[in-house]
Amino acid sequence: MSHNLQLAITAFGEPDTLKLQQTEIPEPTTDQVLVNVAYAGVNPVDAKTRAGLGWGAEKIKDSLPWVPGFDAAGTVVNAVGQYQAGDRVAGRIVEGGGYGQYLCANLDALSRIPESVSFQHAASLPVAGLTALQALELADLKAGESVLILAGAGGVGHIAIQLAKTMGATVYASCSDANLEFVSQLGAKALDYRASALDAQVTDIDVLIDLMGGDAGEAALACVKQGGRVITVPTITADRIIAAAKAKGIEAQGMLVKPNPVQMDALLAKVAAGELHVEIAKTYPLEHGVQAHIDIQSGRTRGKILLEMPQ
Ligand SMILES: NC(=O)c1ccc[n+]([C@@H]2O[C@H](COP(=O)([O-])OP(=O)(O)OC[C@H]3O[C@@H](n4cnc5c(N)ncnc54)[C@H](OP(=O)(O)O)[C@@H]3O)[C@@H](O)[C@H]2O)c1
Repeated sequence: MSHNLQLAITAFGEPDTLKLQQTEIPEPTTDQVLVNVAYAGVNPVDAKTRAGLGWGAEKIKDSLPWVPGFDAAGTVVNAVGQYQAGDRVAGRIVEGGGYGQYLCANLDALSRIPESVSFQHAASLPVAGLTALQALELADLKAGESVLILAGAGGVGHIAIQLAKTMGATVYASCSDANLEFVSQLGAKALDYRASALDAQVTDIDVLIDLMGGDAGEAALACVKQGGRVITVPTITADRIIAAAKAKGIEAQGMLVKPNPVQMDALLAKVAAGELHVEIAKTYPLEHGVQAHIDIQSGRTRGKILLEMPQ
């Protein structure tokens, strides 16, 4: 039997190194569920890994062709554990494989999708939603504090704005002029990073959630008050930002998002209750995954990009 269409990284390089492949439907172990994937999230880490960069590339360099996709939402194929065939599930799949029609997921990696939440919204949440939540928790953001979120219009940023608001913080978020209204509607004071330097627009911030890293992340340290806290999320420049922060007397830490079905359940419940808006910029069929990678690596996506699996 050979009808599991996947999109694989065949070599490190440009987006066109992604190629479709047909493989066997995988066999789950006793503590795994076979999931018929409906949608997969596309994340910057997928494009960085494909380009041969970062921890992702280091991990898979001897396993090419490798199927990316850490976000998946779909349907359980066979009853196992607490799941029945047909149950709608989503999760952060640490092994990757979301860019394919079928994957085996560990039973404890999945969450049930509430009836009123679409597969698209559920597939948008694992990496972006969990990163937003875990970054704010790691920063120990408290009610009444101010937080600056860099890249507020992106996959992680647009969720982080909304979660920080519900934590009772005053939220500032940087974006381009095209996204000022979008970011304001999510509840942030939107700062146009091209209009003037961010530290000319806001200072004495308690918490910086740096979703940019690099030059933009380092420059934004000037907005943070002495004794403030910084979470720098892009792993590739984390050491640089942590060192620059230390030189200014500011505490900074990096992070790596962890699967957490309890947190994922909470995010799904917020979407179901209409308390969390998930923005989907574009959904591509799996066959157009090369374009999805061109989009995500542009760094200009508003919200999330998804891949839809052929059914
Ligand atoms: N460590 C981890 O576990 C972890 C987990 C998730 C993500 N990440 C990393 O975190 C970063 C953010 O992820 P993401 O999924 O949110 O990325 P994304 O969706 O690709 O972010 C795109 C957004 O970045 C904004 N942007 C571009 N240049 C900007 C600038 N100079 N200042 C402010 N905003 C700017 C764009 O807004 P405009 O068009 O308005 O400029 C766009 O909306 C990525 O580097 C990703 O790899 C790390």
